[in-house]
Amino acid sequence: MTLVGGGEQVARAVELLASGGLVAFPTETVYGLGADATNPAAVRRVFEAKGRPAGHPLIVHVGHVDAIERWADRPDPRARQLVAAFWPGPLTVIVPSSGSAVPEVTGGRGTVGLRMPDHPLTLELLQRFDGGLVGPSANRFGHVSPTTAGHVLDDLDGRLDLVLDGGPARVGLESTIVEVLVGQPPTLLRPGGISVGQLEQVLGEPIVDGRTGPSRAAGMLASHYAPHATVEIVDVADARSDGVPNDIGVAVISAIALDHPDVTVLSNDAGRFGAGLYEALRAIDARGMERIVIVPPTDGVLLPAVLDRLSKAAGPRS
Ligand code: TXA
Ligand code: MG
Repeated sequence: MTLVGGGEQVARAVELLASGGLVAFPTETVYGLGADATNPAAVRRVFEAKGRPAGHPLIVHVGHVDAIERWADRPDPRARQLVAAFWPGPLTVIVPSSGSAVPEVTGGRGTVGLRMPDHPLTLELLQRFDGGLVGPSANRFGHVSPTTAGHVLDDLDGRLDLVLDGGPARVGLESTIVEVLVGQPPTLLRPGGISVGQLEQVLGEPIVDGRTGPSRAAGMLASHYAPHATVEIVDVADARSDGVPNDIGVAVISAIALDHPDVTVLSNDAGRFGAGLYEALRAIDARGMERIVIVPPTDGVLLPAVLDRLSKAAGPRS
């Protein structure tokens, strides 16, 4: 059994983490599965709990902007600029590792992913722990990321020690990941809660799309973020003209109101759509539906992040 608790549990969480335990924590994006990023045995337990193949690197969550100096080795000034502008917030920077994160965290690469999440409970946890916590999304590998403490238990009950319950995640989509290395253009590895336009505005230079080369982030694998039901995408224009399938076993998640017996209407704004997407996917799965038809939003700066997750949910299953 896994313990679930709120703010009064932070001291217990710090003790558990210091002794190699696993504590799931809330963030503004999705819940993370926390362990001490300097403890190889604890980090190996995270891979086991998730069923995540070894070698997929984990990001390190920190409680201060200055922590970049501890975990990164001579970061490019542009990385410092980005974290000054967007931390705490849904941005992960990939920078050269100082070696403070153990090789189990970085997958033996020379780089490390760093993020300061924007959630009061987890910032308190990180500041009291006074270290770095790995934090992959707290779901079984390949499944939909959790946006509530209940989702974490649905996937991982009995595989971790404590879930800190900080309520539903505000953004609901994983962080934007950008690699910033000396002498190279800043490179987008995963679109997320901070848009490319926002990053470019701060840096004053274009961001290169790193998703077209060989898969560099686990979230870039085709079948990531998938519910158990199959997923099909029908765009707004087709949904309006032809309707969507309404056979038995089909549930719809839509950006717009539709005449359908089983439809969850979110919003045509990608930010609001994204905030409800994972909850909607999990709720439909829990009802044992076979097919999910998704009518995606058409507006909002977070559209690339939403479309990225939808194409993965609908992608070929391995
Ligand atoms: O919003 C988020 O980022 C959430 C919350 C909990 O903070 N965490 C999250 O972690 O999404 P995870 O492990 O599910 O996704 C992190 C991604 C993975 O695809 C991983 O491959 C990539 O970041 N990554 C981590 N370190 C990397 C590195 N050094 N180089 C390239 N990719 C890296
Ligand atoms: Mg994940």
